[in-house]
Amino acid sequence: MASQGPDSGAMLRDLTEADLEWVAAREREIFGRSAWSPSLIREDFLHGFSRWRGVERDGVLAGYAVYGYEGDAFHLMNLAIAPAARRHGLARLIMDDFLAEARRLGAPDAWLEVATTNVGALALYRSYGFEDVRVRPRYYQPEGLDALVMRRRLA
Ligand SMILES: CC(C)(COP(=O)(O)OP(=O)(O)OC[C@H]1O[C@@H](n2cnc3c(N)ncnc32)[C@H](O)[C@@H]1OP(=O)(O)O)[C@@H](O)C(=O)NCCC(=O)NCCS
Repeated sequence: MASQGPDSGAMLRDLTEADLEWVAAREREIFGRSAWSPSLIREDFLHGFSRWRGVERDGVLAGYAVYGYEGDAFHLMNLAIAPAARRHGLARLIMDDFLAEARRLGAPDAWLEVATTNVGALALYRSYGFEDVRVRPRYYQPEGLDALVMRRRLA
């Protein structure tokens, strides 16, 4: 299913297997040594338990996100926008979809983790009402960055 975004040229859609190479290249570019490997990406995608969503800008794939249940918690597992497409509201489009999906599935809360140093993502999540729950020391490897666990109550 596809939906239009606030940025007139923005559109959300499900990712397909043909997009995975692009996603793996963006992972390396954006997350460096903490990137999901091509095999992990493929395995998770084909497993079919997570929602893999992409956002296009002017007909070109510009970002992606992965979300779904991890145990009992509805979780944002990944979110990235290509550097050249940032600050056009694409992450907001994805966050709206993530929260709508959580509500649709009746999840009482939405969860995510973010590096405590990631100022932009923290500002994004706080603007959606996510609250700090706890810090997971050295969660992101191999860099050893701390993660902040955040929750948005939906019930
Ligand atoms: C964080 C990220 C997803 C934001 O994507 P984006 O499409 O540029 O975000 P949007 O344009 O939708 O911005 C929405 C809001 O988030 C906040 N925000 C986004 N980037 C920001 C930055 N660099 N500094 C401060 N606030 C920022 C702002 O409140 C912004 O609203 P505004 O533009 O009206 O001020 C993007 O910068 C990214 O992919 N970063 C690298 C990967 C990453 O950190 N992913 C998150 C892992 S937890």
